[in-house]
Amino acid sequence: MGRCHANAFRAVAGLFDLPLEPKLTILADATDDLARRGADALGFARFTADWQALIDDPEVGIVAITAPNLLHAPISMAAIAAGKTVYCEKPLSTTAASALEMTEAAEAAGVITMVGFNFLRNPMIRLAREIITSGEIGDITGFRGRHAENYMASPDAPHSFRTDPAGGGALTDIGSHITSMARYLAGPITEVIADCQTIFPTRPVAPGHTRRAPVQVDDMTHALLRFENGAAGSIEANWAATARTLDLSWEITGTRGALAFSQERMNELHLWSGTRGRNGYTRIEAGPDHPPYGAFCPAPGHHLGFNDLKVIEVAELIAAHAGTENPGPDFREAYEVQRSIEAMQRSARSGAWVKL
Ligand SMILES: NC(=O)c1ccc[n+]([C@@H]2O[C@H](COP(=O)([O-])OP(=O)(O)OC[C@H]3O[C@@H](n4cnc5c(N)ncnc54)[C@H](O)[C@@H]3O)[C@@H](O)[C@H]2O)c1
Repeated sequence: MGRCHANAFRAVAGLFDLPLEPKLTILADATDDLARRGADALGFARFTADWQALIDDPEVGIVAITAPNLLHAPISMAAIAAGKTVYCEKPLSTTAASALEMTEAAEAAGVITMVGFNFLRNPMIRLAREIITSGEIGDITGFRGRHAENYMASPDAPHSFRTDPAGGGALTDIGSHITSMARYLAGPITEVIADCQTIFPTRPVAPGHTRRAPVQVDDMTHALLRFENGAAGSIEANWAATARTLDLSWEITGTRGALAFSQERMNELHLWSGTRGRNGYTRIEAGPDHPPYGAFCPAPGHHLGFNDLKVIEVAELIAAHAGTENPGPDFREAYEVQRSIEAMQRSARSGAWVKL
């Protein structure tokens, strides 16, 4: 994700008309050697093995955090204290309590924050929200979403920060994406009941090791949701979904129509607008009519990719840093996502509905 961020900062000025042009000033990694190699490969002027030195650097205006989840809170808090704009990867933190602490510190300091829920930057997702808010598909009655990938589908996929009991698991890692999508499209979640399952009881302790250690987090979670607007629905977060690569998909039903999407075909949105005698979804293909697609390509059908979503995110971050309104998702929104996830985890332990 560090490379994805760096490449987005490198590309953004050539694609968007921005008030500021970013410079890759300094890269931090865990060791000098990693930091040097990263800086050389990605075009940073300087490097350090001490992230605090990066924050203290007077030339740094924006701190982009792509370190493991446990480091998001301390790095963010230090960057907020230094008055920097903070661009943090999801999940915002490892607990909702620390996500709230980060949010309140950022709001008290008046710094700009953004969180890497990049899938929301897709012009097709924005079109979906426009269709929903225009009333075209009526009142929203249902949201069914999943984020399913196969990167942990093998029992020999090793432990990493993603399986750390302090803030790891499929629900936190990728369930945060589909939860942010549910909130973006269907609004606040008010009540949840969830089932968290560990599919593989042990995994190798690290890449290339044969020694195995117990898995204490979920590989797969299913949750039922109730929304503030009266809609009901479900999400699945599954990193052991054999055959699935990036199935962040959802279907929304309304009283007059429906929408459907999958990130595996991220340049298409499917709309059914309830025309009598014309059952079946219509496929809308991404093109310059759907901003900011036209920043990348003047013709439809040429298609955006995952990394382009990060470029859009960075363009919006830089505009906010330069003083335009922050479109978010900011720390407060990411805290709300984390709060929803923690409610699902609590519900899975108690077996009961949990109100947010
Ligand atoms: N938005 C998305 O779609 C998306 C996708 C993948 C990952 N992520 C998020 O990005 C973050 C990183 O994930 P990843 O897959 O790139 O992990 P990774 O393990 O590949 O990279 C983590 C990096 O952090 C470095 N690091 C570790 N300790 C450090 C320290 N003390 N100081 C500085 N650097 C340190 C590591 O050396 C490594 O370079 C996670 O929070 C993850 O959830 C987001």
